[in-house]
Amino acid sequence: MYNSRMNIQRLDKSQAIPWDLLLLADPSKKLVEEYVKDGLMNVAIIDNKIVAEYVLLDRGNGLAEVMNIAVDEKFQGQGIGKQLLMHAIKTAKYIGFKIVEIGTSNASHAQLALYQKCGFKIYHIKKNFFVDNYDEEIYDNGVKCVDMIMLSCKLNSLSFH
Ligand code: COA
Repeated sequence: MYNSRMNIQRLDKSQAIPWDLLLLADPSKKLVEEYVKDGLMNVAIIDNKIVAEYVLLDRGNGLAEVMNIAVDEKFQGQGIGKQLLMHAIKTAKYIGFKIVEIGTSNASHAQLALYQKCGFKIYHIKKNFFVDNYDEEIYDNGVKCVDMIMLSCKLNSLSFH
């Protein structure tokens, strides 16, 4: 599905940071503030309203990580998340990164499906990540988030038209 009214662009300095969206994907404001400071944030805009965002962070050695990706609840399920993730992959490749990675919890099966549909493969599990890094317990789909499943996508072999 493609929303022709949607534009994806770098967050303008005059625009307010879309905290609601960022916190939808990651409830720790402290962690979010850290990577928003250093990361590149692109936002999806429909009718002058930010409806989605992602943050790409340089992890060094040719590696970029999508630290946060979120779509406004009213706009979910319309293909925007997929479009945004493909945009993140293209942007990382354009900048010159070799690999892009993304993490999600053991409980987040829709995200795992989406990321694999976009070409990411599971390569590592950060054991107890959510227990060690968040003050409160987090649940998704009624399952406790404990481990972070890391997925990566090699950019060298990808070509875009
Ligand atoms: N099982 C299998 N596939 C699923 C699924 C599920 N439970 N839920 C979604 N998908 C698939 C869709 O079918 C679609 O694939 P298709 O194009 O082949 O049909 C694909 O995932 C993407 O769907 P899309 O409509 O682009 O997703 P979205 O716009 O709703 O965005 C999120 C996805 C995760 C970004 C969005 O739901 C969101 O913002 N969630 C809250 C924040 C969050 O959890 N962020 C990620 C933190 S790790």
